Amino acid sequence: MSESTIESILHENRLFQPSAEFSQQAAVKSLTEYEQIYGQAKADPEKFWADLATTELHWFQTWDAVLNWQPPNVQWFVNGKINISYNCLDRHLTTARRNKAALIWEGEPGDSRTLTYAQLHREVCQFANALKQLGVKKGDIVGIYMPMIPEAAIAMLACARIGAPHTVVFGGFSAEALRDRLVDGNAKLVITADGGWRKDAIVPLKEQVDKALANGQVPSVENVLVVRRTAQAMTLTEGRDHWWHDLQKTVSAHCPAEPLDSEDMLFILYTSGSTGKPKGVVHTTGGYNLYTHVTTKWIFDLRETDVYWCTADVGWITGHSYIVYGPLSNGATTVMYEGAPRASNLGCFWDVIEKHGVNVFYTAPTAIRAFIKMGEEIPNARDLSSLRLLGTVGEPINPEAWMWYNRVIGGDRCPIVDTWWQTETGGIMITPLPGAIATKPGSATRPFPGIFAEVVDLNGNSVPANEGGYLAITHPWPGMMRTVYGDPDRFRRTYWEHIPPRDGNYLYFAGDGARQDEDGYFWVMGRVDDVISVSGHRLGTMEIESALVSHPAVAEAAVVGKPDELKGEEVVAFVTLEGTYSGSDALIKDLKSHVVKEIGALARPGEIRFSDALPKTDRGKLCVGCCDR
Ligand code: PRX
Repeated sequence: MSESTIESILHENRLFQPSAEFSQQAAVKSLTEYEQIYGQAKADPEKFWADLATTELHWFQTWDAVLNWQPPNVQWFVNGKINISYNCLDRHLTTARRNKAALIWEGEPGDSRTLTYAQLHREVCQFANALKQLGVKKGDIVGIYMPMIPEAAIAMLACARIGAPHTVVFGGFSAEALRDRLVDGNAKLVITADGGWRKDAIVPLKEQVDKALANGQVPSVENVLVVRRTAQAMTLTEGRDHWWHDLQKTVSAHCPAEPLDSEDMLFILYTSGSTGKPKGVVHTTGGYNLYTHVTTKWIFDLRETDVYWCTADVGWITGHSYIVYGPLSNGATTVMYEGAPRASNLGCFWDVIEKHGVNVFYTAPTAIRAFIKMGEEIPNARDLSSLRLLGTVGEPINPEAWMWYNRVIGGDRCPIVDTWWQTETGGIMITPLPGAIATKPGSATRPFPGIFAEVVDLNGNSVPANEGGYLAITHPWPGMMRTVYGDPDRFRRTYWEHIPPRDGNYLYFAGDGARQDEDGYFWVMGRVDDVISVSGHRLGTMEIESALVSHPAVAEAAVVGKPDELKGEEVVAFVTLEGTYSGSDALIKDLKSHVVKEIGALARPGEIRFSDALPKTDRGKLCVGCCDR
């Protein structure tokens, strides 16, 4: 964040009340009602979540205990049997939602598709049967490396249906990054597409999968299931690779959802931390289903006829929780868009809103900043009157961007939910409930009912209002991550040991700096560890440093985030060179491409500076970070 942004956040005190009209129709209608619900949750959190689990979800078998909390290990709805694919699909089929649009998809070149709940259910069942036919069984991990096409959601739901945890790898990651994630997850099968569209170009996804799997680099992968999207040339490896459209012809559309244990793993999603290797964040079934369901319902305030659009990619947690699982569990109509604003189509987001009459729109501050730069005449030329509610996620929103979003996109009538959360939290944690909580530009406002958040010092003591500290969550919640895949020790170290337990009570360390103002509103200031956020994408500085030192010219590298007006932060790398190399523009170019090859375009350094030496601590560590996560 720039100093001017920090300055404006510190002095921001404008208050925006939801309109009476909005509040009257909202799921939670007033501050009093929010406080009442929050109070109930506080008085008896287990009863609060158990009541919601009973009324909001289908269970094949109820649980023996709501919570088993043995810090840092947690279980929710112990011995309960549930299937999130059933909750997202089957249970809607016996209602009026059967023929309602579940998924509206817009392809980048202008093609589109709508799947009703009945149609989506059918495709998911077929896909699940195809997975079974390829030998995937309950507990087998399936890699998904897909463009933003309906089959990405179908594949996730198919895995969930048969109890095969998925690990979705963002399609912008390189073959190397994909390989590392597949190896760590011991994936048995990979689902991909021949290619995907990204900013008017085709990304050759299948080719990347081939590179990742070449020379037996991922021995666990037995099969690759390929969806046809772009129809460009590629090769299928006999015996390993299969077209989805071929298998689809041979499989039945009957596939009952497997009753799974509430704590069966639903997915692994890799995210960056302070150390080199990304962490496999593990989420399980029952708690995640409940948490994403309830947060979607109350925060996005969904009505039966709403069209809801979250612009994230399914490769990130936002796509998992708020394109696929949360909205579908609620029986909502969720929009999925393959494209992104690009030179040839700057207004494409607003076209999608106009075309489908989107009512609820959820995007990232980095996108909003880019729209401001493009000029308001672009959205002004479209009819955005269907919008009722706006949301943001992923990084702090600067008040100027908030005000623009409110005026130009929201027409001064749509509440804005600035939602703070993380891959690890599974769902939104701090946010306005739009009919109940007045907003302040730049603040995520107050915790969701059932979430107990505090700003503390490193001894676990609450800091006074308006003083900075560390954001911590003091009680377990159903959507929380269960562990780091294959590394429970890292889980404990990263999240549970920075702050000592308070009266025996463990505090979750979020890794963000924050303050609470005199009204109890939270202001999240950004990461306190070696994680930077480039266009809302979370990157570990050490991950980029490791990529740089794997280049033969580089002896040492230190990476920092530099404030950037558009992207939030930009990657700046300082490198020292091996003896025979000398710095040049050509080498800078080469090093940037090397990082793209090792991680993906999202990690491309904006700047690379050559240096004779890098600062070190007296113990010889490069001195650019503050903690050992
Ligand atoms: O630093 C916080 C920032 O994004 C981090 C989580 O990143 P990730 O796991 O990739 O998940 C992003 C989508 C949920 C947080 O630790 N962050 C997320 N939302 C906000 C935010 N910072 C400020 N305000 C937010 N609304």
